[in-house]
Amino acid sequence: MISSLELGLKGKVAIVAGGGGPLEGIGNGRAAAILLADAGAKVVVVDKEIDLAQNTVDMIKKRDGKAIGIAGDLTISDECKKVVDFALENWGRLDILDNNIGIASKLSVVEETEEHWDRVMNVNLKPMFLMSKFAIPAMISSGDGGSIVNISSISATRPKGLTSYSASKGAVLSLSQAMAVDHGKNGIRVNCILPGPVYTPMVYSEGMTESHRSQRQNASLIEMEGTGWDIGKAVVYLCSEWARYVTGHLMVVDGGCSLSARPRG
Ligand SMILES: NC(=O)c1ccc[n+]([C@@H]2O[C@H](COP(=O)([O-])OP(=O)(O)OC[C@H]3O[C@@H](n4cnc5c(N)ncnc54)[C@H](O)[C@@H]3O)[C@@H](O)[C@H]2O)c1
Repeated sequence: MISSLELGLKGKVAIVAGGGGPLEGIGNGRAAAILLADAGAKVVVVDKEIDLAQNTVDMIKKRDGKAIGIAGDLTISDECKKVVDFALENWGRLDILDNNIGIASKLSVVEETEEHWDRVMNVNLKPMFLMSKFAIPAMISSGDGGSIVNISSISATRPKGLTSYSASKGAVLSLSQAMAVDHGKNGIRVNCILPGPVYTPMVYSEGMTESHRSQRQNASLIEMEGTGWDIGKAVVYLCSEWARYVTGHLMVVDGGCSLSARPRG
């Protein structure tokens, strides 16, 4: 375990949006929630169903961490406000927000339906806007600045057959930098992570052949597939004291995939 003192996260209060998951699978949100708690933060785990959030809370408690779960559809303004109020009521302050929610798409603009385009835009962007809208005033009133991490994707800069998804994730880059510019004066750092292919429940629950999986692995310059832990560790770094001079940064965590011309599947 990394020293909680060095990271400066002990006693901080974090919300991980989309931090739940099925059973014990390690998604990007769950890994961030567990590692933030390992580093001493108190974590509010939010997911669209309470059971998904509670699974993560149980995993954190087994490691002697502090966490509470809440259900919310974070595309809805009132539910986002409820989550921020829940953090303040339970733990009296707010320091960290990990905006992790995202869903995939597969098609070109010609094949994509208007309905699915609207859904991808709504789920991949709106929770980041709404959660930040309510979290930033809470961070300011907590009196010690804050840190927000938005999860984009390398599809934002290296699109490949996921058109609505890529467009939504491109907007996450701009949103992150706009927020960093607007709220630096409040001591709030806003950074963005662009993961490459990561083996998470959301990915493997849709079904993945061995050859597709090895294509994802081989897309990396170091022939390695990412896990939720790789993204969670990047979140912890960006929220920690070690990143006190880092804001508006777009951090690629992809084993070099986006430098490679190899197909990534
Ligand atoms: N897995 C990958 O290969 C990969 C690659 C690049 C980027 N990403 C991004 O990383 C993030 C996390 O992906 P993951 O695969 O680790 O998934 P994850 O395991 O972190 O799951 C995301 C969670 O968000 C929840 N969620 C979805 N809609 C919600 C809503 N409206 N309100 C509340 N909760 C909601 C889901 O129930 C799920 O538990 C996403 O933004 C994704 O686009 C993933």
